[in-house]
Amino acid sequence: MDTSIVAVAYLVAAVLFIAGLAGLSGQETARRGNALGMAGMAIALIATLLHPDVSPEHVGIIVAVALAGGALGAVLAVRVEMTAMPELVALLHSFVGLSAVLVGFASALQAGHHDGFAAVVHRGEVFIDVVIGAVTFTGSIVAFLKLRGSISGAALIVPGRHAVNLGVGAVTLGLMATYAGYDQLGALLAATALAAAFGVVLVHAIGGADMPVAVSLLNSYSGWTAAAAGFVLGNDLLIITGALVGSSGAILSYIMCKAMNRSIWNVVFGEYGATAGGASALDPALAAAVARGVNTASIDEAAQILRSATSVIVVPGYGMAVAQAQGPVRELAELLEAQGATVRYAIHPVAGRLPGHMNVLLAEANVPYDTVLEMDDINGDFPHTDAVLVLGANDIVNPAALDDPKSPLYGMPTLEVHKARAVFVVKRSMAAGYAGVDNPLYYKDNTMMVFGDARKVVEQIVKAMAHG
Ligand code: TAP
Repeated sequence: MDTSIVAVAYLVAAVLFIAGLAGLSGQETARRGNALGMAGMAIALIATLLHPDVSPEHVGIIVAVALAGGALGAVLAVRVEMTAMPELVALLHSFVGLSAVLVGFASALQAGHHDGFAAVVHRGEVFIDVVIGAVTFTGSIVAFLKLRGSISGAALIVPGRHAVNLGVGAVTLGLMATYAGYDQLGALLAATALAAAFGVVLVHAIGGADMPVAVSLLNSYSGWTAAAAGFVLGNDLLIITGALVGSSGAILSYIMCKAMNRSIWNVVFGEYGATAGGASALDPALAAAVARGVNTASIDEAAQILRSATSVIVVPGYGMAVAQAQGPVRELAELLEAQGATVRYAIHPVAGRLPGHMNVLLAEANVPYDTVLEMDDINGDFPHTDAVLVLGANDIVNPAALDDPKSPLYGMPTLEVHKARAVFVVKRSMAAGYAGVDNPLYYKDNTMMVFGDARKVVEQIVKAMAHG
């Protein structure tokens, strides 16, 4: 195929990727966004196979490898639980990093097509590609192992690491000058090893509660590393796609940091994860509340109060995902609506374990989109709400984030459920949530704990309401 036709096909693919990303920004359009992205990728793959630089004997190998990778991806997509999605994403980022390293070395070892200054620039591109790729590769592997629980999630801080980081930066720049300027492959190898070690240390230093942001940052790195590989290969589409992934990952990291009240620098270089937990448990007011104990409600009591409610807000959290309670929740909402109540869902930006986690589960249960509201759109409504059902959520409804400066969650935007008339908290025990801190919500006068698995509890409430 003519290179100009390939270029047009790449342009069409790039436009489809951008339209796909725009679609992913809203839940009503997300499905269409995915379809557009897939169409763009299909066009990109076919155009690449027909590129004049790809010799016919290589097409067979590429197709065979793509089919094997696609089959593996399909099996993983079917098998993986929604709750294990972050670790899968981390693993996939590591592949992007590794392939960027391999592309870089392949280009470094190939007989050069460049002379003079162009060769220096090319080696500079190879160097950047390999270094970001190596950090992404090892950093993502550590993130994967941490999220899987194979290694401890606690932050491991290297002593004097700020000085070490600066030193690593300076040495890397020196190696870059040596490789780009003098074509010393040894410098590239040394920088790869250093970057790989740095990736391990960087992600090891990030505490468990900040891992979602780390994964999103690694997503951004994987985009930039793909863009760098695009420069190495002279492939415009890879540059555009990499830049799209890189910048959307960076924007997502920013949104998540805002939702957790953290700055990016604080996540990457702070020590929150090392100190999280316990601080708010020492708060005297909380200690007194703990001593007083919690209110509990039986299934029948919960059903009774819900029967007289005219406005109900459901707050789903990680526990709803674990219990797979979204189907029964929808049945409950239908019963409540049949009695004339309004039922809405309040979504915190970091509810669950990955962005959009709750939206996907509710959509799976065919919950109407217009009843699912973002935190900022619903937070003002809690004071006028009769009953709130907190389903397996903990950190995202912790009022200490609003009024306890000693809490590690302090400053994080919170769903202000404690302002509603009655709050039911459905969880199995008094255990802490992801951030490992106690929750004063549970000790409030208007809060009632309904202990049990979220799915079973909601199913029982549905039964009690239907027969009541
Ligand atoms: P969490 O604070 O983790 O609380 C979930 C609660 O669900 C737990 O306290 C647990 O209590 C309960 N639970 C677990 N299994 C249950 C079951 N089968 N039935 C009923 N309850 C169950 O979750 P959240 O409120 O959704 O907050 C999210 C947290 O995760 C935040 O700290 C956030 O920063 C972090 N995080 C977010 C993301 C993103 S991007 N969304 C990614 C990673 C981490 P019991 O054990 O007592 O049942």
